[in-house]
Amino acid sequence: MKWNAELYDQKHNFVYQYGEDVLSLLEPKAGESILDLGCGSGFLTNEIREQGAQVLGVDSSAEMIEKAKKSYPETEFKVIDATDLGYDASFNAVFSNAVLHWIKAKDQPKMMDAVFTTLKPGGRFVAEMGGKGNVGLMISTLRKVLNQYGYPQQAEMDYLFFPSVGEYASMLEKAGFKVIYAAHFDRETLLQDQADGVKKWITMFASDFFTGVKEAHQKEILEETAQQLEPFYHRDGEWYADYKRLRFIAFKK
Ligand code: BEZ
Repeated sequence: MKWNAELYDQKHNFVYQYGEDVLSLLEPKAGESILDLGCGSGFLTNEIREQGAQVLGVDSSAEMIEKAKKSYPETEFKVIDATDLGYDASFNAVFSNAVLHWIKAKDQPKMMDAVFTTLKPGGRFVAEMGGKGNVGLMISTLRKVLNQYGYPQQAEMDYLFFPSVGEYASMLEKAGFKVIYAAHFDRETLLQDQADGVKKWITMFASDFFTGVKEAHQKEILEETAQQLEPFYHRDGEWYADYKRLRFIAFKK
């Protein structure tokens, strides 16, 4: 997936606001070395640095890293893939917010091995990602509408990896981690741009569903999906998506 760093920053900055909350789970300390995995445009990486830790933000998107470097020249960033970090026992902690669900299930063990190798003994892996059922209503509605418009293949497309606590904790354990905390919880998430929020969210994060869909149909499918979601997503003048979060703290033994 190619990211539009500018649009992401303008329209989806709620990711950072919620991310600040997950930073309290990381508890960065002065002098610690921390790797921010999938740092995007660098807002939280910079927060970690401001809290006194030495931090490196990594992301597989060169566009995001370019933007991060421009926005936060005092913070270090590199283009690196999550499954091939290239560090050995170098960091006290690896942190990740709203990114791990983009890594396919088959590549998760490789990413976990890379994080394990990157951590110093006793280091911690602290993260939040989409958990089981995340944006379930949004995606199931989109699938239904794609079927209504005669696109059954697109409707069946695999989406992102949203595991349960049990599934993810056991994957972490298999990779050698000791999981000391894991939780799954609902967090309805405010969408930007009111009625256009659903359409913009799908366009930004789920555009692969439209591969091979006629241009004229795409607009109608987005409209129809937003309309069908309105009774569930729209209240008190705001639009909320059905986010579900998975958080964990796991140690390298
Ligand atoms: C999430 O943070 O849960 C998420 C963000 C974009 C697409 C899918 C899920």
